[in-house]
Amino acid sequence: MVAAVPTSYSIPQKALHWLMAALIFFNLIFTEGMETYSRALGRGETPTPDQIGSANIHAYVGIAVLCLGILRLILRLVQGAPAAPVGEPPLGKLAAKIAHGSFYLLFVALPLSGIGFYYFGNETAGDVHGGPLKLLMWLLIVVHLAAVLVHQFYWKTGLAQRMTKG
Ligand code: HEM
Ligand code: HEM
Repeated sequence: MVAAVPTSYSIPQKALHWLMAALIFFNLIFTEGMETYSRALGRGETPTPDQIGSANIHAYVGIAVLCLGILRLILRLVQGAPAAPVGEPPLGKLAAKIAHGSFYLLFVALPLSGIGFYYFGNETAGDVHGGPLKLLMWLLIVVHLAAVLVHQFYWKTGLAQRMTKG
């Protein structure tokens, strides 16, 4: 028997979406602590306990994103996702699939590259972490927000409800 396609995301999926969005914004915006720590190490200085503390906050928030991201992927595979809104053109469906898939890849790749640099001193991982992966995350977020706003206010598909009260 084929399971029915849900009309909205489940409550755990919604909770994970908003919790992870908050953690990701935190790590994207408040980078000063980690960067000060990293600059101190780069100059050959021993970081102060305060600098290590702030760097660890960034690391633990990022590791939480990794763990929650894996949990979220499992939920997504088990519970599925609502069908595309009625009238969505095939190109829109494809764009949403690519954007959502790329988010899931970043939930793993961003933390792993950070771990590679922070715990194992791999410089390439550090460059990829603070360079292309960070930029891709920002780009996807901007496109994601634009898509949600266009759906909500221009096409009036009520898309936002699927991740809120729907
Ligand atoms: C979703 C998770 C994460 C996000 C969104 C994130 C985001 C960022 C951002 C925006 C920067 C500043 C880069 C720059 O502008 O130059 C940064 C730097 C850094 N992050 Fe993360 N990060 C995450 C997870 C992690 C994890 C799990 C670790 C390590 C355990 C980590 C370690 C670092 C390190 C060591 C730097 C300094 C890199 C440098 O100075 O070159 N990050 N991160
Ligand atoms: C760091 C910020 C964010 C990330 C990483 C993110 C990530 C995602 C991902 C991966 C999905 C697809 C879920 C799935 O199919 O399993 C999704 C769906 C969704 N997100 Fe976000 N999101 C973020 C912020 C936001 C914000 C601020 C809003 C509200 C304006 C929002 C509204 C939605 C809505 C309405 C959906 C459902 C779309 C659909 O059913 O096709 N998201 N988000």
